[in-house]
Amino acid sequence: MLHLKLQASLQAAVRAVLPDADTTAILVRPCPDARHGDYQSNALIPLAKQRKLNPRQLAEQVKAALDVTELCDAVDIAGPGFLNFRIRPAALAAVLQTAARGEHLFFAKARQPRTVVIDFSSPNVAKPMHVGHIRSTGIGDSLQRVFRLLGHRVITDNHIGDWGTQFGKLLLGWKQILDRDALARDAIAELERLYKVINADCDATPARLEEAKQELVKLQAGDAENTAVWQEMIRVSQAQFDTIYGRLGVKFDHALGESFYNPQLGPVVDDLRARGIARESEGAVGVFSDGSMPQKSDPFLVNRDGEWIPDPALVRKSDGGFNYMTTDLATVDYRLRTWSPDEIVYVVDDRQAPHFRKLFLTFARWQPEAAAKVKLVHVGFGKILGEDGKPFKTRSGDTVKLGDLLDETEERALKVVTEKNPDLPEAERKEIARVVGLGAVKYADLLPNRQSDYQFSWDKMLALQGNTAPYLLYAYTRLRSIRRKCEEHSAGGGQRSAVSLNVPEEIALAKQLMNFGLVLEAVAEEYRPNFLCNYLYDLAGLFARFYEGCPVLKAEGAERATRLLLCELTGRVLKQGLDALGIETTEHM
Ligand code: ARG
Repeated sequence: MLHLKLQASLQAAVRAVLPDADTTAILVRPCPDARHGDYQSNALIPLAKQRKLNPRQLAEQVKAALDVTELCDAVDIAGPGFLNFRIRPAALAAVLQTAARGEHLFFAKARQPRTVVIDFSSPNVAKPMHVGHIRSTGIGDSLQRVFRLLGHRVITDNHIGDWGTQFGKLLLGWKQILDRDALARDAIAELERLYKVINADCDATPARLEEAKQELVKLQAGDAENTAVWQEMIRVSQAQFDTIYGRLGVKFDHALGESFYNPQLGPVVDDLRARGIARESEGAVGVFSDGSMPQKSDPFLVNRDGEWIPDPALVRKSDGGFNYMTTDLATVDYRLRTWSPDEIVYVVDDRQAPHFRKLFLTFARWQPEAAAKVKLVHVGFGKILGEDGKPFKTRSGDTVKLGDLLDETEERALKVVTEKNPDLPEAERKEIARVVGLGAVKYADLLPNRQSDYQFSWDKMLALQGNTAPYLLYAYTRLRSIRRKCEEHSAGGGQRSAVSLNVPEEIALAKQLMNFGLVLEAVAEEYRPNFLCNYLYDLAGLFARFYEGCPVLKAEGAERATRLLLCELTGRVLKQGLDALGIETTEHM
């Protein structure tokens, strides 16, 4: 990779000037303003400051010691001591050729692979997956794909909500009002109905609530009948989740639900108490502030009328039941003991941010040594809004079920595809619509900064123009058709001629290809798939400009070979990039 070569040369030059300098922080990155160069390093400025040197003078000395003539046309010193590098087209061509030989696709595997656990999707049993689940599922899946692509060891775990007080009501409903036919038709819808009916009963009649509680107590005590029914509820829910995961192309290494940790919950609370981290308060057990941080940023405190009062992390309820927090503490402990990860990433909506802050702080107090070795990250995200700017709902005001949403998207995509290709056989149009529709929903969800809320709009996400999946998928089909035509022309043969980049459009496209790896790294670094979306959109735009300005099939000799190679590599990067977003491609559209 060019920036890595530049970086190595720059580090060597710095060592020549300052033999004792630590050069690991000397990085080369794309230049923020292309008018000043292709790559830039700003690392000499802090280095000079540390040593009380004049940064521009240091830059001059380093530049004199720098040997990058093979890679660069020019190295400029700018501003307070930036180094700007302008890459020679011949150096770009050489990288294109190594990519053509299959040595790389403009990214390198991590030199120090990390073990990363990604906790994502995590729906609750007996509740349908709704539109909101596309967020955790899509962002989590894209992150796991990018981490794997970069050579990290990834363990994905679907932390299904399969335990909790709702099962008392569900059990009561199952025993008294279950409709077997409805269960066979749509299991989760039937479970939802049971819950709603019994819940209303319980609100109205204390005796019903008591009955439900007894069912829960029996389940918790391991009663055989209730355990069997509970397992059946998990099984039918999981089957429905799996249908959706199948459609979305999402797989998990593990789906260790909350109930998996039940045997650990009592011991976790005992241990927290023995270590003085949790204490009893009004019959419950909780973790309180240890006063180690300013009140304003202490998640174990809340401000009520100007006064700071405790907001503990509860780990045991007064009735002896355990909390979401207790399960999550046991889960961190289990994951560390089982997989020794360097990092655990939780892809969960932003409303749970306070929970994760408390979780991470409590874990650090509970197991300080283990906590020092692992990075715990909450990757949060905002809401999906309807076109009216309010939370996205169906016309009747219900939450939108994910399965229904995917159906509707495919239907709408079929209209778009049919308008474009009325003559394709229906089966083919449907398959294209499936790829385009799913791609459109996923892409629209990954494109905005994940923390902001975004408005769900079928018209926008299915548009063939603009920063959308259909636009990128269409660009890909054009690249594939160029390739097919070229194969017809040269009947597969075609000797490899020299590659030489001469026209600005060729050079701009080649430069964009070079940065694929940096973008993947940035996605992994900041857990932001939107960086990759924008990169691919820019790539497709540069390709469009190139294709308008530079004839490919009509060109000859080295020019033709160069342009075909650019098309080929752009196609490969586009496909690999979309794959890293969890989006399939299609040959025709
Ligand atoms: N099931 C939870 C919910 O629907 C999300 C679980 C996220 N993962 C975790 N380890 N807490 O809110």
